[in-house]
Amino acid sequence: MSRTVYVNGEYLPEEDAKVSIFDRSFLMADGVYEVTSVLGGKLIDFDGHLARLERSLAELDMAKPEAFDDLLAIHRKLVELNGIDEGMIYLQVSRGSAGDRDFVFPDPEVVKPTLVLFTQSKPGLADSPAAKTGIKVISIDDIRWGRRDIKTVQLLYPSMGKMMAKKAGCDDAWLVEDGFVTEGTSNNAYIVKGNKIITRHLSNDILHGITRAAVLRFAREAQMEVEERAFTIEEAQAADEAFITSASTFVFPVVEIDGVQLGNGAPGPVATRLRDIYLDESLKSAI
Ligand code: PDD
Repeated sequence: MSRTVYVNGEYLPEEDAKVSIFDRSFLMADGVYEVTSVLGGKLIDFDGHLARLERSLAELDMAKPEAFDDLLAIHRKLVELNGIDEGMIYLQVSRGSAGDRDFVFPDPEVVKPTLVLFTQSKPGLADSPAAKTGIKVISIDDIRWGRRDIKTVQLLYPSMGKMMAKKAGCDDAWLVEDGFVTEGTSNNAYIVKGNKIITRHLSNDILHGITRAAVLRFAREAQMEVEERAFTIEEAQAADEAFITSASTFVFPVVEIDGVQLGNGAPGPVATRLRDIYLDESLKSAI
């Protein structure tokens, strides 16, 4: 069934939605995005995603779309129009189309940003089999650019990383720079050692995950110890547990890293508990 999507102020059937071939997200990857999950027809962590979008736009000197203040209403309308119970809303803002290809940014007074949103229906998102079995990851070199804190649409290397993982019979890849794990291809990475949760500190090297912020807050509220520092693949392989977080996975346990099984190869208690807390608390505050 055709979705209703949003493009620059209009709600349209997906087959009628159009963006210029000169759009800078298409030609230059000059765009930013957000993915917000939907559970029970409600938006999870919406305020965090909106705040990060605003920051991404500011860091790239990109104008806010005119409809910025209506984004909550647009998200909600798309959920309603497409009857989404569980799934995601994808949002993308680009610097727009100047009607030609040019490295120089167009004048924001003349060229308006492009705003696109669409829904992805994922029944069973909260009850994913991967949450029960855990996932297997490989490590690969992190050769992405230096501003990974900005959520840009430059996703070729993360996409290649997923393909490398798939080829190796695994689910995802953890990226390694200067000997330390930065993050997963589309998620933040954690290990657990002796009841301590360890995850890389925030910097320009990783995306400041909205799920990460919530999970660490819930962990601290539950009196769990959290240490924000970099760790190596060897340390991760020797850890009691590992897991990832993102808006599309919430919390997924990691049970194997580069062919080395963690513990007994089953999801660990800390990851399982954090997933339960995250889902409970997020549902309570969903809007
Ligand atoms: N990815 N790190 C990277 C590189 C990501 O792409 C993502 C999210 C995260 C987790 O951020 P959050 O908790 O705010 O979702 C970390 C989204 C889900 C995606 O690209 O589909």
